[in-house]
Amino acid sequence: MKFASSRLDPVKPSASAWVSQAAKEAKARGEDVIDLGLGEPDFDTPAHIVEAAHQAALRGETRYPPTNGTAEMRLAVMAKLLRENNLTYGLDEVIVSNGAKQVLFNAMMATLEPGDEVLMCAPYFGQYKDIVLILGGQAVALKCPADVGFRLTPEQLEAAVTPKTRWIMLNLPSNPAGAVYSDDDLKALGAVLEKHPHVLILSDEIYEHILFDGRSFSSFAAVCPSLKDRTLTVNGVSKAYAMTGWRIGYGAGPKPLIAAMTKVQSQVCSGACAIAQAAAAAALNGPQDDVRAFCKAFEERRDLVVARIAAIDGLTLDPPGGAFYGLIGCADLIGATTPDGDTLSDDAEVTAYILKDAGIAAVPGSAYELSPFFRISTAASMDVLGQAMDRIAVSVAKLKRKT
Ligand SMILES: Cc1ncc(COP(=O)(O)O)c(C=O)c1O
Repeated sequence: MKFASSRLDPVKPSASAWVSQAAKEAKARGEDVIDLGLGEPDFDTPAHIVEAAHQAALRGETRYPPTNGTAEMRLAVMAKLLRENNLTYGLDEVIVSNGAKQVLFNAMMATLEPGDEVLMCAPYFGQYKDIVLILGGQAVALKCPADVGFRLTPEQLEAAVTPKTRWIMLNLPSNPAGAVYSDDDLKALGAVLEKHPHVLILSDEIYEHILFDGRSFSSFAAVCPSLKDRTLTVNGVSKAYAMTGWRIGYGAGPKPLIAAMTKVQSQVCSGACAIAQAAAAAALNGPQDDVRAFCKAFEERRDLVVARIAAIDGLTLDPPGGAFYGLIGCADLIGATTPDGDTLSDDAEVTAYILKDAGIAAVPGSAYELSPFFRISTAASMDVLGQAMDRIAVSVAKLKRKT
């Protein structure tokens, strides 16, 4: 009996899910595993946000909320976008969903026809591809290698657009590479998109607050205002406020697009949890000191990991400009022989070796459509990251490399 519809056939089990499963199994066997596969902050949600949820529940905000979000939360999103991103939206140009993930799904479900192409900058967040495939679209990976800072170039974009291109997905700064775009970079991409009015732009800005080296953030629609009427700005509270479990994300864009996305969401879950929306509104409206403190901690961890990887012969890591990952280059380890006599033929095998030998769970670059790399998350204490780096160094030193 086949239970799953053929729509799901193109979706392969995700490598990050495999890594996290393998790490759990190793832990269950009593092995000492440090899981650096996960993409969620290790901090607690700030107390004032938790308290806002408590108060909302006590006030009786426990009924079905409006499908597109409570007025309080949509007003908080509008105020945030104006205050922090210089973007003006109306109440009917904002949708609140169960995480940015659902915003992304709603957008694709609402707009894609079978065969439509969606451009994405590899390495990219795995969900981008899978939702497009589930919906019968074509995911077009534009490879953005390390030597261009994992950034899309205008020339690449120009060459990739076809009459079937429906969306270009941008992720500022990016998971997994921590790539950052300057305003000039975005303007140059915008100039290409000006010439192709049939293309919609999705700017996923969920890591906007985790930016290093004194950088400030610019939202795509603010840098390219003439494209705002075909841009969907996606964001959420998961990463900035350590609220992954609350499941609140939001999108802002043209009214007809938001209306279509609301139609999708009405058939899936109605509105997102009313109590979590009250918490998210408190996060956006309240003090931002915790956000700055989290970013500072992530920057210190980034510095530690970059310095330690630089000292390991065979691995490379240019300092990521944002987000909380290290996408570590392992080209020099491909073809190397392990102490057990196995040859490492790709980054999935390097990752499996590091899990087995060093007890460090990481995600292979192939999961993000760019090899040979593996991604570690820096959502762990300095101590734990230091231990992880020690163990990786020992395991890499045990490899016999091709000369
Ligand atoms: C680039 C990117 N976008 C969106 C999301 C989804 O975040 P959430 O659904 O928790 O809001 C993630 C989570 O890892 C991400 O890395």
